[in-house]
Amino acid sequence: MAQTQDAKPEAVSIEFREVQKRYPGQDKAAVDNLSFEVPAGEICVLVGPSGCGKTTAMRMINRLIDPTSGDILLGGQSVLERKPAELRREIGYAIQQIGLFPHQTIERNISTVPRLVGWDKPRIDARVEELLELVSLDPDLVRKRYPAQLSGGQRQRIGVARALAADPPLLLMDEPFGAIDPITRERLQNEFLRLQAEIRKTVVFVTHDIDEAIKMGDVIAVMQQGGHLAQFASPEDLLLHPANEFVEQFVGADRALKRLALQRVRDIDLWTAAQAKAGESVVDARRRIADADLDYLLLVDDDGRPLGWTWGGDLEGDTVPDKPKTPAEPIVELDSVLRDALAEVLTSESRYAPVVDGQGRVKGVLSIEAISQALGTEATTGHVEHHPTPQ
Ligand SMILES: Nc1ncnc2c1ncn2[C@@H]1O[C@H](COP(=O)(O)OP(=O)(O)O)[C@@H](O)[C@H]1O
Ligand SMILES: [Mg+2]
Repeated sequence: MAQTQDAKPEAVSIEFREVQKRYPGQDKAAVDNLSFEVPAGEICVLVGPSGCGKTTAMRMINRLIDPTSGDILLGGQSVLERKPAELRREIGYAIQQIGLFPHQTIERNISTVPRLVGWDKPRIDARVEELLELVSLDPDLVRKRYPAQLSGGQRQRIGVARALAADPPLLLMDEPFGAIDPITRERLQNEFLRLQAEIRKTVVFVTHDIDEAIKMGDVIAVMQQGGHLAQFASPEDLLLHPANEFVEQFVGADRALKRLALQRVRDIDLWTAAQAKAGESVVDARRRIADADLDYLLLVDDDGRPLGWTWGGDLEGDTVPDKPKTPAEPIVELDSVLRDALAEVLTSESRYAPVVDGQGRVKGVLSIEAISQALGTEATTGHVEHHPTPQ
């Protein structure tokens, strides 16, 4: 990521110290005695059922709400000593309803804070372009558009870009992907994790979805009704050692399955498949098939992107044809979590998925058997031979 002109802190630690919030006229606290610390550069997920105080806890960080008692420290400094407006300019904020201004172009939406703090036009233009690329949108296509002209997933990316515009050391995200369809949501989650590996902000992320919490969090604060902290732990610890019955119930019965969300496709031994481009020698292709884990040839384009499968026995003639017998679907990414990748393989007709890198190039093949090998369990796919057919 390009350097901005001011030297800003990369990220900041955050500490909740016995924070309590009582809304006027409510006998129960919305947030009760909340204490935890998040190191700089980590994603902390606040998760819990609706009404347990997640949003209230988050909005006390940027002082949209002030605590009844207790304190919140950013990099050791109390937020209560800061001017709210100034504080908010240093904290990115992305919410589910996105909050884009409908009558402003995408460009103006993203540059809201930079304009507020007086950046000059060339700097703003460069930043907008950089941010759009960062959230995987083509600047030339979307810059001059209005929010209503974009899809829900694209608008959500704009919301994240806007939250990052002034390069804040801290990012607050309140159910940012909550209103998005599951497939786009998974893509946005993966994108955000990839982005975070680059930008290393401190992030407080609110969700009611435990699967999302496990996937996104470096640390997770599980909250329960009345704004109590039920457990503060890493995803691994939460799944292995739920602190009490509430957490156990909330995490769910399928804890072993959820641990799949802690591993990525890149972490396991993938299978190999013979690859060939259209027009290459069939003799060579057959030789590669003999050396690979699968009896199938994976046709790739000139850049190594997967096009489709052909069974070795169906290869005829001298050269590899440009039409594969079956399409290369699904395709999964190296960065996908195993749980999501497994779901894609299970719901598709093909039992093998080409695995691609960020540029879409084939890096291996994912199979149910490869996943079960990684987990140290027996795959119960009903096939006894080691290399069953894709369909
Ligand atoms: N402005 C408010 N006035 C009074 N009560 C509120 C207000 N905002 C939230 N609450 C109450 O505080 C509790 C926590 O709400 P909230 O922080 O929005 O929870 P969550 O984000 O986990 O769904 C709920 O019982 C809610 O009804
Ligand atoms: Mg909420």
